[in-house]
Amino acid sequence: MLELWGGLLSITVDVFTQRLRLRSLPSLADIGGSVDGCTCIVTGPTSGIGRETASMLARRNAHVVLACRSVERGEKLQKALMEEGAQHGRKPSLEVQLLDVACLASIRKFALSWQAQKRPLHILVNNAGIFSMGAARSVTKDGFEGHMGTNYLGPFLLTMLLLPCLQRTAQMSDHGRPVRVVNVSSKMHELSPGIDISNPHFAKGRAYSSLAAYNRSKLAQVAFTAELRRRLPAETGVVAAAVHPGEVMTDVVRTLPGLMQGAYRFLMRPFCLSPAEGARSSVYCATSKDPILTERGMTSEADNCYFGSGCKCESPSSYALDPMLGKWLWQWSSEAVKLPKEFQLSAQV
Ligand SMILES: NC(=O)c1ccc[n+]([C@@H]2O[C@H](COP(=O)([O-])OP(=O)(O)OC[C@H]3O[C@@H](n4cnc5c(N)ncnc54)[C@H](OP(=O)(O)O)[C@@H]3O)[C@@H](O)[C@H]2O)c1
Repeated sequence: MLELWGGLLSITVDVFTQRLRLRSLPSLADIGGSVDGCTCIVTGPTSGIGRETASMLARRNAHVVLACRSVERGEKLQKALMEEGAQHGRKPSLEVQLLDVACLASIRKFALSWQAQKRPLHILVNNAGIFSMGAARSVTKDGFEGHMGTNYLGPFLLTMLLLPCLQRTAQMSDHGRPVRVVNVSSKMHELSPGIDISNPHFAKGRAYSSLAAYNRSKLAQVAFTAELRRRLPAETGVVAAAVHPGEVMTDVVRTLPGLMQGAYRFLMRPFCLSPAEGARSSVYCATSKDPILTERGMTSEADNCYFGSGCKCESPSSYALDPMLGKWLWQWSSEAVKLPKEFQLSAQV
């Protein structure tokens, strides 16, 4: 309970002080390092933080796959980014691919086709996400609670199916290029009092809160990142990190009624970051040569997989780093998404 109140206080302080605290942080263009020649996948690039992340990786000469649930929106984005590039004398390398992270069949099709083509993969940014603020409980096509399915279980399966591609790329990477998984989580994970393992999808009981469901899905993302780091031997060269982008003015409030959306935007605009400011932590974790990202197991800080909006390693909630929860979550997720045995990573003892 004490941790929950602490989390609430810490989020409130974070929201209202972030512009001040982050005023000396470099702009998106100046953050992180090179991704020249890298192949990157960004999920949910059609709006907000994902758009800025994809655009910045492309500006640094990466080949960027815009993994979207609507090809039409993806092609519109590709055209816009090509036009932006042309205005600056650049020709971004972009590709649109269909991927609905709320649908296991779509994820399997995407990842297995990537595998079959033996494509390199340096950076996977699991950015796509929903926050159905104030909405009633919904379920994905696979029967998962909407937030858990879209924000966590889908990205879990995508990451696990693409991991062999990342590992192969890391082994062949002779130019010190980064090989990373970046999970775009949220500080709101601190408000989740663990995960109720008897009711992970909020299927039992009458009370449902979209806020609690969102927070739980974001906690699952951070706990998964920590467990992935525990299971991935350092020699693989693949680094996983979870990030909190800050509180960012995006379309994330799209499910609120028009009037409430307007009020939210009006009241919060002075305190929120722009999408480009919010993309800094994702781009930092995807590209930086910061030893905390590259040297695994060197310090306890390095094993903390969570980066705040200031692009610094921070402590996530104690639940996120609990190895018991991590182990349970891994087992539960593997069963939920029917992860084939050949893609499994065993627990380190
Ligand atoms: N904004 C914040 O203050 C904030 C704070 C902490 C964390 N975050 C996290 O940051 C990430 C990006 O959020 P944002 O604020 O940029 O929100 P946003 O503007 O609503 O963008 C979300 C993106 O995810 C895509 N998406 C949603 N469901 C998808 C699905 N099933 N399959 C594929 N793509 C899907 C959307 O695609 P469509 O265009 O097709 O809808 C859109 O491109 C999310 O994970 C969010 O939880 C945001």
